[in-house]
Amino acid sequence: MALFYLWFRLKMRLDKYLSQSTGFSRKEVKKMLHKGMISVDGEVTKDASLHVAADAHVLMEGYPVEPPGDKYIMLYKPEGFVCSNDDGTHPTVVSLIELPRADELHICGRLDVDTTGLVLLTSNGKWAHRITSPKHKTGKVYRVETADPIPQEAIEQFETGLMLASERFRTKPARLEILSEHEALVTLTEGRYHQVKRMFAAIGNRVVGLHRESVGAIELDEMLEPGEYRFLSDAEVESVQ
Ligand code: URA
Repeated sequence: MALFYLWFRLKMRLDKYLSQSTGFSRKEVKKMLHKGMISVDGEVTKDASLHVAADAHVLMEGYPVEPPGDKYIMLYKPEGFVCSNDDGTHPTVVSLIELPRADELHICGRLDVDTTGLVLLTSNGKWAHRITSPKHKTGKVYRVETADPIPQEAIEQFETGLMLASERFRTKPARLEILSEHEALVTLTEGRYHQVKRMFAAIGNRVVGLHRESVGAIELDEMLEPGEYRFLSDAEVESVQ
């Protein structure tokens, strides 16, 4: 089971939480509370002023009530999971998210099944678009391990752009920072199919390990283990313009 990491961005009064989430008025919600129809984390409560966090399990007459508002999540994608809402072969990243209707979340920039690291998911389609559209030039940083040594001239080749097999346009300028003979950080502002692997293939090398560390100003939280996730803070959400 994925561990649920949270910043309590959504901590709010229970009556407000219920009203905003379900559309019932505060007065109606208070009546339901009074009748013992609401439970929080397994305990029936009549306290309208109780402060609930985003990870609380809130039930109304036994049915789960989602936290109100859009959801913004960072997940540490483990190997072996696909960035898809539905897949016949591999488990999906959304299966790691323990929220109702997690399969309706937008996956902002997909990673290959064998790539690990930061995946952002949201219910806000416009926000997802700002991350994935090359027009917004959101930098995505990948830590890459290669089969062969990475030559210095690769820095300029990545900066100039490379022609990838069966594509008509050069890749956009990418930053390559060589960390050691076989390790580098690559920053891309676009997300073509298998792009990092194909860029290294274009210079005669092979990627043997790939991990996404950050997307724009949002860095993978080092407190997360593979398979774990947490909600984004307000500052992280607002960093995507
Ligand atoms: N580039 C790749 O080749 N694979 C990924 O998963 C992400 C970027």
